[in-house]
Amino acid sequence: MASLTIRKLDDTLKAYLRLRSAKNGRSVEEEVRVILRELSEGRAEPVEASVPALAAAPAPAPRATGAAGEPRITLIIGGGIAAYKALDLIRRLKERRIQVRCVLTKAAQQFVTPLAASALSHERVYSDLFDAESEFDAGHIRLARECDLIVVAPATADLMAKMAQGHADDLASAILLAANRPILLAPAMNPLMWNNPATRRNVLQLRRDGIHTVGPNAGEMAEAGEAGVGRMAEPTEIAAAADHMLRPPQPRPLAGKRVLITAGPTHEAIDPVRYIANRSSGKQGFAIAAAARAAGADVVLVTGPVELHDPPGVSVMRVESARDMLHRVEAALPADVAIFAAAVADWRVATEGTQKLKKTAAGMPPLQLVENPDILATISKLKDKRPPLVIGFAAETEHLIENAKAKFARKGCDWIVANDVSPATGVMGGDRNTVHLLARDGKEVTVDSWPVMTKEEVAAALVSRIARTVGATS
Ligand code: CTP
Repeated sequence: MASLTIRKLDDTLKAYLRLRSAKNGRSVEEEVRVILRELSEGRAEPVEASVPALAAAPAPAPRATGAAGEPRITLIIGGGIAAYKALDLIRRLKERRIQVRCVLTKAAQQFVTPLAASALSHERVYSDLFDAESEFDAGHIRLARECDLIVVAPATADLMAKMAQGHADDLASAILLAANRPILLAPAMNPLMWNNPATRRNVLQLRRDGIHTVGPNAGEMAEAGEAGVGRMAEPTEIAAAADHMLRPPQPRPLAGKRVLITAGPTHEAIDPVRYIANRSSGKQGFAIAAAARAAGADVVLVTGPVELHDPPGVSVMRVESARDMLHRVEAALPADVAIFAAAVADWRVATEGTQKLKKTAAGMPPLQLVENPDILATISKLKDKRPPLVIGFAAETEHLIENAKAKFARKGCDWIVANDVSPATGVMGGDRNTVHLLARDGKEVTVDSWPVMTKEEVAAALVSRIARTVGATS
């Protein structure tokens, strides 16, 4: 007689069997026997018909962070009078662009309804450890893992006692025991309960276990005439504490510094419809602007025509030609650091046509070119307003280091970021860059070669080097 290993069945069948057996309160083996009996009696129903949701069930989401890159919280609402404030907490978290999925304990449902929590969170609410629909694929484990943070508000004395002891007899405690994410508790209880030695022991144990708390605060209790420490922290405080754990403030080594950056190509008009340009995408300059802003700098970005969005918090000025770029750069001074990442067109036509140039019998109209102002050299040689740190780029297709070193002499800047832009590297317009940072060390030039990185990584590395230098000189 053949034997059947359920573990080896395909995933859809396994899920179907688990769900069906959970629903009918039978073991999976028992359920298989029932199905076989039904089959032999001609009563079997198709998988999709018996569990319609299963056919459309998506694969379990692999990551915690929500669709728009928003962090996700599993919010466990405990059963205390402060539970009503948990509804406001959902709002405050959503205002901070945090996605919330709620779990209500049985006691919490005496104070707030799953419907209210679901309406505010725009998500399904969970409350039952033995819910066949969500537990067919161990939903309590998913609720514990598919989030970036678990918040318990209100965290009742009972829930904390269960946590401290490692109980898992309902959905909330099972999630907390299965969690591998940080946990934030907002305790709320009567002051006598908060001060009870048992609660004190439990709180101490939980803190030793690495669990975070916010509150409780001192104030009046729901019970008439009672006051003391035990009030749940306000929803705004809990939301701020959660946000702080999800997005800890980044160091801002360039706070108070003004950084001026050029980016992109320039367009030099030939006539009203034609121009001279190059393949620069502006990505590297924009990435540097974003990184400098993230480091706390006040950033001005002067860019030629590119198809990129303004980095948040950066003051962006869009220009066309090299001469426009120079004017904007001069007007943006003074600055503590100036970074010239633009691929400025070296030449423009001497006389821009006021009308479209026409083909003539005499052949191509002559295009007389004149040199554009060198923005980097102009700013590097300023007497009064020269930024203390001026950084140029060297875009080369051959003899990279040699040519970059020669640019030091011509341009008068402090550092040069040299990159190979020959077509084979894909740097122009691409997302990665291999750079060499040249810096003056007295009369010597030091060369620091970085590995291949994304343009964002190059930007971050450059900004952190700038922060070390500017920090050391200020
Ligand atoms: N640059 C500038 N103004 C120009 C030309 C270049 O500010 N008119 C800056 C660039 O932003 C870059 C540096 O000078 O920081 C070097 O640019 P690059 O195009 O590599 O060199 P060029 O000076 O144009 O010299 P060449 O074309 O001979 O390589």
